[in-house]
Amino acid sequence: MKKIGVIGSGSMGQALISGWTESGASVVAIVRDVEKYRHLEKSLGIDVTDNRSALLECDVVVIAIKPQIIKEVLHEFQSYIADHALVISVAVGITTEFIGKCFPQTVEIVKAMPNTPSQIHMGVTCISGGENCSDSSIAVATELLSAVGEVFVVPESQQAAVGAVSGSGPAYLFFLAQYLREGAQQLGVDADLADQLIRATLRGSAELLMQSEMSATQLRKQVTSPGGTTQAAMEVLDSARVGEVICAALEAGVARSIELGKS
Ligand SMILES: NC(=O)c1ccc[n+]([C@@H]2O[C@H](COP(=O)([O-])OP(=O)(O)OC[C@H]3O[C@@H](n4cnc5c(N)ncnc54)[C@H](OP(=O)(O)O)[C@@H]3O)[C@@H](O)[C@H]2O)c1
Repeated sequence: MKKIGVIGSGSMGQALISGWTESGASVVAIVRDVEKYRHLEKSLGIDVTDNRSALLECDVVVIAIKPQIIKEVLHEFQSYIADHALVISVAVGITTEFIGKCFPQTVEIVKAMPNTPSQIHMGVTCISGGENCSDSSIAVATELLSAVGEVFVVPESQQAAVGAVSGSGPAYLFFLAQYLREGAQQLGVDADLADQLIRATLRGSAELLMQSEMSATQLRKQVTSPGGTTQAAMEVLDSARVGEVICAALEAGVARSIELGKS
């Protein structure tokens, strides 16, 4: 059984840990403030410590701290990573080359881009191996991340783009849900009812998209009878160029990812 060390036990770190402990892995979280994270010992069944030496026992080390601080913090861990350990970083914008320079004792570096549905083990994670990362390490990373959802292996050059699509993707759908709720209330629909309608509609639509052989465009056309109510609504979205705005939002995400990698 692999021993996994996690640096960064925030929302993404905890989502990943929960998948691993459910599949029986042994996990230790390295934290700055043990009391703040003590509850994870019970809720997730892991060890929590501020002693970085615990990482030396780990076959896999996961880095889940914010990209904004990673450059100042990571060097503190340099001498605590075992030779040839597999290091998986989920930090947006941070390259495997950068992580490799921090930990010269291993070439087994994987960059991973998960998303928050990992919390309910329905996540999507895109992974890329660093320059000299072995196939067996990619296989281990794939297996580990499969515990929280689907895994896709992509070239590292595409990480910023897939991050904008699936990494940030849940935010776009929650944004849609937020405004559907607001619009429903403006139309006089009770807030609780609106909430239930929207959650069920998103779930049903997502499942239909998964199960159908039709594309999203075809499925949308199926709901849009000529001259009907949906068409009237779609015309408002089209005239506001919402489709183009979504493409521009993805581009902004990619640009920010590149910026975070440079800063
Ligand atoms: N959230 C997403 O949807 C998403 C998607 C894809 C990738 N990611 C990536 O996942 C990473 C984590 O994001 P997040 O949303 O989970 O952030 P978060 O909730 O803010 O968690 C960051 C964690 O890092 C810890 N930390 C900071 N410095 C540390 C240190 N020196 N030693 C140990 N722990 C330290 C923080 O602990 P304290 O409580 O002590 O500050 C906190 O638990 C980021 O790199 C992000 O780019 C996130």
